[in-house]
Amino acid sequence: MHFSIKSGSPEKQRTACLVAGITESRRLTPAAASIDNASKKFLSNLLRRGDITGKLGQALLLHNVPGITADRVLLIGCGRDRDLNEQQYRTILGNMLNELGRTNAQDAVSYLSELNIRGRDYQWKIRQAVEKTEHLLYEFSEFKSRKKSEPKALRKLTFMVPSRRELPESEAALKTGKAIANGVKLTRDLANRPANVCTPTHLAEQAQELEKKFPAIKTRVLDAAAMKKLGMNSLLSVAQGSHQPAKLITLEYKQGRKNAKPIVLVGKGVTFDTGGISIKPAAAMDEMKFDMCGAASVVGTMAAVAELNLPVHLVGVIPATENMPGGSATKPGDIFTSMSGQTIEVLNTDAEGRLILCDAITYSERFNPDVVIDIATLTGACVIALGKYATGLLSNHNPLAKDLLSAGEDSGDRAWQLPLWDEYHTQIESPFADMANVGGREAGTITAACFLSKFAKKLHWAHLDIAGTAWTTGKDKSATGRPVPLLAQYILDRCKTAG
Ligand code: BES
Ligand code: MN
Ligand code: ZN
Repeated sequence: MHFSIKSGSPEKQRTACLVAGITESRRLTPAAASIDNASKKFLSNLLRRGDITGKLGQALLLHNVPGITADRVLLIGCGRDRDLNEQQYRTILGNMLNELGRTNAQDAVSYLSELNIRGRDYQWKIRQAVEKTEHLLYEFSEFKSRKKSEPKALRKLTFMVPSRRELPESEAALKTGKAIANGVKLTRDLANRPANVCTPTHLAEQAQELEKKFPAIKTRVLDAAAMKKLGMNSLLSVAQGSHQPAKLITLEYKQGRKNAKPIVLVGKGVTFDTGGISIKPAAAMDEMKFDMCGAASVVGTMAAVAELNLPVHLVGVIPATENMPGGSATKPGDIFTSMSGQTIEVLNTDAEGRLILCDAITYSERFNPDVVIDIATLTGACVIALGKYATGLLSNHNPLAKDLLSAGEDSGDRAWQLPLWDEYHTQIESPFADMANVGGREAGTITAACFLSKFAKKLHWAHLDIAGTAWTTGKDKSATGRPVPLLAQYILDRCKTAG
């Protein structure tokens, strides 16, 4: 989609479709009022007939409205204007796109950015509109022999701002939105690919592609032998049942202040999780191709940051492997020494995410990081606790947790914090090793994070459990690209406060 920003009055716009809001009950937004005046009360007369009252979800397409230069007018019901919230704004945008998609309009000029969303400015509204539009228009057809039906007519969307004064900031918001949307798309494409294509090797190649596209990104890939040398036995214990070679992928983007300590993002890259010898049931096992969504979100966030040329030092670390059963696979009860020196008794080979993350977190120490954030589809328990709306957040550093929560609120990609109290640590005690890799049925998301925290003692660290938010299930299942918007917002905020 091509996006642009303009200011000017609606009746003068030359476009296939003008979009304006109607609020409850039957109230004209400023743009609708201008159209009404120019058309000698065409809209008010129509509203009186009651075909649209302004309720959320309503829409009315009008042709040949007199006194204006646009071919069509699309009225969108926006609900009660006094308590419009962020989620409703996104719903309204979705409705607009849906309705536009049913017309043959090739371009549209939207005045919905004039809606009042409490505490949100034009920048926010425009960025959200760009991200939401790209999200809704996303299609994954790499593996369809016949591409989707007819191409969509709509090519160009213009968002209107009240005056020229808002133009520069709105243009910047558009750019930011577009870069984040591109990062989200990259993440979704990677994650939607099947596991026979998206292997650890494929992830490594894709990281190298990113380096070609953005020379500011430097990529390094370590193979199993190099990881063995580093003592990453915990990570390698997960890979040992698979024929696909494991990879440790590092992406480094170094801009901004000279000696700035980096933000390190660690993404779980299990390209398929069968559970290993503790094998998973067959139902919906295909969805375990999404077990590399954390890794994909690291790649997508790096791409967004590089596209925006942000002045920041950012490192991505991706431990990538399959989790397979087989003659050489880990057996329950096996004990491994992690890179940190701590020993782990693997009681359940399906709790593999933490086994690869712990070594990757230890590895991240070498970057002398300011903060380390890991992103992982880590526990089914998180899906039960928080469902598909909130990402689970656990951290050993409250200021970092606070920043991430607020980045989630602002980007509309929200997280919710769970406790990491000492009491929970007793659940992962082992009689034979320094710790066990599982802690029983209770508080599964928390005990998984407790495990990781034992490898993050020297770090300001946060963990994002995206098991419920990284993809949607059902017949239209698809990766969502979360938490790229949250992470990008966090980094944007950091760039601002760093001056
Ligand atoms: N990748 C899964 C977590 C998962 C399951 C994410 C379902 C999304 C949907 C992870 O590796 C896993 O299998 N976790 C186990 C841990 C358990 C053995 C302690 C789980 O959640 O069942
Ligand atoms: Mn598992
Ligand atoms: Zn997993």
